[in-house]
Amino acid sequence: MNALLFELGHAALAGRIAARLGAERGALEHREFPDGEHYLRVGSECANRDALVVVDLAHPDRRLTATLLLAATLRDLGCRRITLIAPYLPYMRQDARFQPGEGVTSRYFAKLIDAHFDALLTVEPHLHRYATLAEVYAIPARALSAAPALAAWIATHVEDGFLIGPDAESAPAIAAVAKLTGLPYAVLEKVRRGDREVEVAVPELAALVGRTPVLIDDVISTGHTLAEATRKLRAQGARPPVVLATHGVFAPGAIELLLAEGIARLATCDTVPHPSNDCAVDGIIGEGFASL
Ligand code: R5P
Repeated sequence: MNALLFELGHAALAGRIAARLGAERGALEHREFPDGEHYLRVGSECANRDALVVVDLAHPDRRLTATLLLAATLRDLGCRRITLIAPYLPYMRQDARFQPGEGVTSRYFAKLIDAHFDALLTVEPHLHRYATLAEVYAIPARALSAAPALAAWIATHVEDGFLIGPDAESAPAIAAVAKLTGLPYAVLEKVRRGDREVEVAVPELAALVGRTPVLIDDVISTGHTLAEATRKLRAQGARPPVVLATHGVFAPGAIELLLAEGIARLATCDTVPHPSNDCAVDGIIGEGFASL
């Protein structure tokens, strides 16, 4: 492959993706001036080469400016097709105007990406009110399922699991993991009353007896969704659950909250760099890129 691969904040995953695709690592100097503005210098010959940019956008407002400036620089230096690989795609949860006057920020964020990149590859974006990324992004955009990585982790780490999704939004992903693992599953009902106020209703789950609950969500942010589900499950006498998420975004205090409710174990995919990363997605991304 003749493409150059650059990264911002995702060094380990980028290295593995480059190795899988046989892409050359692009030389990039990136630092901030004392006033916080970004300095970018590309040391690789770009003319007529495709570029891949792997970025951790979990805390997007810290990294978006550098991401857009890097794409603009690569274009200016002659790169042809520039693909953004954002393993975690932010802003997808504001997918409607829930209150009068709110911004539908998923759309505005997409416009910024559309303006600078030619294609987008991501893992398990929050597609709820949007059925596909094409409803939001104008560039070719591919949403990859994390189910194979999650299923492989469960197969090697959990005995007699029972998969549980905390809300209706998690149903398709849970069903996909259940299909790959052959494990039984249930989907709970959640009502969100605020950023840190969540109610989860857990029905009597007779099928849970003698099994280990495996709570799976696409994102852990404040941790309240899965902490509340854990609390309700434990109140029913369930075993301490294993908690699995594709994207561990983790607001301050999230992990402490989950531990305080008595989870048995926590693992995340490496879509967002974090010590809990234990499910590798480079294989999924490598295959996804090949079929973009
Ligand atoms: C919500 O729609 C998502 O699927 C997650 O359930 C949610 O983002 C988790 O957020 P938190 O950890 O703050 O409860």
